[in-house]
Amino acid sequence: MSGVVAQRENNLVVQVNKIIAPVQPTMWGIFFEDINMGADGGIYAELVKNRSFEFYKPMMGWTVSGKKLKEGDVLVVNRKELNEANKRYIRVTVNQAAEGDLYMINEGFRGMGIKKNLRYHFTYMYKEAAGVKMHIALVDSTGAKLSDEVVITPKQAGPAWTKDSISFTAGSTALKGKLLIWFEGNGKIDLDMISLFPSDTWKNRPGGMRADMIQMLADMKPGFVRFPGGCIVEGFDLTQRYQWKKTIGPIEDRPLSINRWNFEMPKRQAPDYFQSFGVGFFEYFQLAEDIGAEPLPIINCGMACQFNSAEVVELNELDPYIQDALDLIEFANGGTNTKWGKVRADLGHPASFHLKMMGVGNENWGPQYIERLKLFTQAIKSKYPDFKIVNSSGTDPNGERFDYLNTRLRDMNADIIDEHYYRRPEWFFANARRYDQYPRNGTKIFCGEYAAQSDKTTSITNTNNWLTALSEAAFMTGLERNAGVVSMASYAPLFAHVDGWQWTPDLIWVNNLHAYGTADYYVQQLYSTNKGSQVVSITLKDDVVAGQDSLYATASIDTVKKELILKIVNGSGAEQASVLTLEGIKKIAPDAKQIVLQSNSLSAENSIEQPLLISPKESDIVIKNKKFTYRSAPYSFNIIKIKML
Ligand code: AHR
Repeated sequence: MSGVVAQRENNLVVQVNKIIAPVQPTMWGIFFEDINMGADGGIYAELVKNRSFEFYKPMMGWTVSGKKLKEGDVLVVNRKELNEANKRYIRVTVNQAAEGDLYMINEGFRGMGIKKNLRYHFTYMYKEAAGVKMHIALVDSTGAKLSDEVVITPKQAGPAWTKDSISFTAGSTALKGKLLIWFEGNGKIDLDMISLFPSDTWKNRPGGMRADMIQMLADMKPGFVRFPGGCIVEGFDLTQRYQWKKTIGPIEDRPLSINRWNFEMPKRQAPDYFQSFGVGFFEYFQLAEDIGAEPLPIINCGMACQFNSAEVVELNELDPYIQDALDLIEFANGGTNTKWGKVRADLGHPASFHLKMMGVGNENWGPQYIERLKLFTQAIKSKYPDFKIVNSSGTDPNGERFDYLNTRLRDMNADIIDEHYYRRPEWFFANARRYDQYPRNGTKIFCGEYAAQSDKTTSITNTNNWLTALSEAAFMTGLERNAGVVSMASYAPLFAHVDGWQWTPDLIWVNNLHAYGTADYYVQQLYSTNKGSQVVSITLKDDVVAGQDSLYATASIDTVKKELILKIVNGSGAEQASVLTLEGIKKIAPDAKQIVLQSNSLSAENSIEQPLLISPKESDIVIKNKKFTYRSAPYSFNIIKIKML
């Protein structure tokens, strides 16, 4: 920063030929959970809420009205005996109706994001239609039309459910549009799976994902995608646990489930939060493949959330749960001649998804976890000896629960231990050395969920401010330096809708039209896109650079690009001059690059209005000698990339 006098000067020595560890391609990844309207109302681009009338209150999300509306004109019909997965539909009876006489409006997920000139695809299932026309349009909160009206005359008068669709173009943009269906004529119709999708989905897949949100993930170039959570894997009780087999195949056959986050947070209740599983396990695997990341599914281990019911399955009744895990591996990797490999092929993906690892349990703990985990491990390893299992170390990075699990898991030679920390920024600054003494051989560490909390865990006043992001950047120097033991890391949670969140802070915030990355997002992205392939030594007075004078640093090399990548975090409010000496390197090119993420205000935050307030600034710099001075601005995260000749 010009005009600011350097207050401190440190001598950092980089030994380019002193390789500390390889950086795993999986090192920086993403953690996805359907929390904060992350899937329904989030990446799943469906605009209709409660399209199949399966919510606890069957007409939630829908308003039925009109001048001629009489009692019983719109009936919720139950067909549980015939279809357990999709129990309800509606029957609409229409009496000599014209515009305004009988209509239904769907409010979407806190409204529907509507874009001018974009095509929208309306689909529905129906039967026993007689004498009824449906008029479809998008409207704003005042009822003004956002699109032309399209008219449908359903022809199927018989009892067979029939799918139909129509497309139309929006004439205006709105953040909180709605879907209007009004009925004309004299007769009736049975309706189900009433759905509306924008045409600009990710890879233009019909019924697909919201492209802007997925693009933000792709831009991180993540090494892995962990899904589907989080506590959602466990469920409040075991009936609500995540069951992957129920999330694949035709969407009308995927049984809806209440979302655990519906009622979990007393101050952020979301009674309309359900899981339609429109994004199910096939879609998660496909997403990982699309963005070049390893899939990392987490599977229920026979235990419900221990903060909630804490139900467990008897050990002698665990087989179906274990079978789900084995079948999942076959679903992902099995040949098309296997039962589950064929299911995958029939869904349109004959090639393997190359699944190499799986988490057994999310935040589970205690001897009850170890007992169940052992049975899963035995079964998985005896069929797939090279398959890696991610093991839970509970909810916290220390304390009795952690110590117990850490000891037991290491006794079991666990492949990977998943550690979680939701802690204040001071903890992150102070723990940059956490992994320096971890054993190098055997068990690897997955920092599976972490985020600095500006207040405290689950506080609704937590923010994604620059202090939280900077503290994560400092802490992550310790993860990168310890790439020999830390093989994966992911911030959590990933997404939050500004009008529908339960948990804060979160990496990416969205409304119905826009998505923005927090400062924490840019920290994650910068680490991931500048990771290099090998960590090399960087020291300050023969010690690692981990907080002396609030300075944190790591160094890595990209052996393909022949680049030295230095990461320097200045956690102090003063500019710092670092004198860097590069050893073990023949020559460097003078034209180097720096990327700086910085704010003078620790409370600054990105927002929908100012999405790039704190965002990386890249510039060219000249480094003439192997000994040079780098000035890092107050409160800054700096990356310096130097070509090695
Ligand atoms: O990320 C939010 C929640 O935090 C996850 O669901 C859970 O694993 C952790 O407690």
